[in-house]
Amino acid sequence: MKEIKNVVVVGAGMMGNALAQVFAADPSLNVVLKTRALKEDRYEPIINNLDIMIARGAATEAEKKLILERINFVTDNAEAYTDADFIIECYPEVMEDKQNLFVEIEKYCRDDCILATNTSVMSPTEISSKCRCRDRVVGAHFWNPGHLIPLVEVVKSNYTSEEVMQATMNLLTKVGKKPIYCKKDVPGFVANRLQHALWREAFYMVENGIADPETVDDACKYGPGLRWPVMGPMENSDLVGIQLSYNIHNYILRYLADNHEPSKCLKEMLDRGDLGFKTGKGWQEWTAEEMQASSNGLKEYLIDYAAKQKKS
Ligand SMILES: NC(=O)c1ccc[n+]([C@@H]2O[C@H](COP(=O)([O-])OP(=O)(O)OC[C@H]3O[C@@H](n4cnc5c(N)ncnc54)[C@H](O)[C@@H]3O)[C@@H](O)[C@H]2O)c1
Repeated sequence: MKEIKNVVVVGAGMMGNALAQVFAADPSLNVVLKTRALKEDRYEPIINNLDIMIARGAATEAEKKLILERINFVTDNAEAYTDADFIIECYPEVMEDKQNLFVEIEKYCRDDCILATNTSVMSPTEISSKCRCRDRVVGAHFWNPGHLIPLVEVVKSNYTSEEVMQATMNLLTKVGKKPIYCKKDVPGFVANRLQHALWREAFYMVENGIADPETVDDACKYGPGLRWPVMGPMENSDLVGIQLSYNIHNYILRYLADNHEPSKCLKEMLDRGDLGFKTGKGWQEWTAEEMQASSNGLKEYLIDYAAKQKKS
């Protein structure tokens, strides 16, 4: 497979801007951000991301200058796609739009160009179903904020070639991401399956009066959540031992939530119009200051993590 030099990110929304920033940080890549129209303030979201990172030591002014210079905004299909080696779409999450976008791109790009989709939940197999070369389509699911979270789920569709999987994994590693190889195209890929298994149990405990919402969050933040950045469940199971893992599951699994419908509480909150941070009330009540502190706290944590990675 040809060496990847020309990367195109399609859609200059929240994820597209972050991804263009990630690829442009690698001096060996030429980055195009394919957008519908050229606006005066098109660099602003990326400048904002970088300024916050610079303030906390996760990037430098020199890096900011180079990243901005390397991102080329393009509106024309032929100009964007003809020389591309790797195209990743960050289009709205609508199946038909993503399918048609890839059909349109295939009119212009070379046959050996990889087409990646940043879909959060949709099947890359289905997204590629109208394509001429389905084996070049791959899932590459970045996590928001895409410039700060290292994980990218690389998802093999029913058609993706091994060569395309490897080239995608290699490219993402090169730009400093932590790609994981998802062997099957299943709903939720890997990380969202894990996340929502936990959320299901969390919601079940609150719904059944086992613990308050704050207590559930504290149980994660001050307990097992501290292990997760350094030890996942598989390694942890080996650490405590297979016998203990077996005995615990032999006893506890029958008591855990296994509902196949969303929690009743979610439906009740929706009906009441309690939408979380949008309305200041969801599982808990939030003041404007608390909501600001919560979202700032997460951003600062992630930027400090990126700064630490940069130093190590
Ligand atoms: N937001 C998240 O947390 C998140 C996380 C991971 C993956 N994703 C996925 O990434 C994708 C994009 O999500 P987002 O949150 O960045 O959405 P967004 O709405 O911020 O961005 C979509 C962009 O696509 C552009 N667009 C639409 N039609 C276009 C066209 N014809 N030509 C060029 N650009 C066009 C829009 O102008 C917009 O800028 C979705 O598939 C989403 O599921 C989102």
